[in-house]
Amino acid sequence: MKSNREIKALAVCLISCLIFTTGCYYDKVLPAEAPEGEISYTQDMQPFFDASCVSCHNGGGVPLNLEASVSYAELIFGGYIDKANPKNSTLYEEINTGGDMEQYATDIERAMTLKWIEQGAQNN
Ligand code: HEC
Repeated sequence: MKSNREIKALAVCLISCLIFTTGCYYDKVLPAEAPEGEISYTQDMQPFFDASCVSCHNGGGVPLNLEASVSYAELIFGGYIDKANPKNSTLYEEINTGGDMEQYATDIERAMTLKWIEQGAQNN
């Protein structure tokens, strides 16, 4: 006969296991939500670049300057955006899962970037 304490410990163990595994499963299934409605370049995209990219992409040695004064032109004229095939855009591919810049973007930022391109990559 197991002691009460052992049974309690086992129960706690099982419950946390359950929460842990269903928690992970839930994370994988939940799609990343981009902000609702139209994505704004100045209100949504540039703040993301400022916070996550400009520390390196600032016109120094690294290609693609993402500073506010030049980022839009760099992206469009540098060929980083493919409006016909948004998922093939270099910008998206680099920050997407498996891309070289993956670690600097969250799932929400990835979804937001794709949505911005799908909406026509406007300078809005
Ligand atoms: C810690 C520095 C660093 C940060 C932060 C960073 N990058 Fe980069 N990025 C680089 C370097 C270095 C390269 C060039 C070498 C390479 O492709 O890995 C690069 C390459 C790229 C390229 C390809 C450029 C080309 O012409 O080949 C894109 C697109 C890019 N980064 C986007 C981003 C975006 C968007 C962010 C922010 C979410 C970001 N990077 C954050 C350092 C960084």
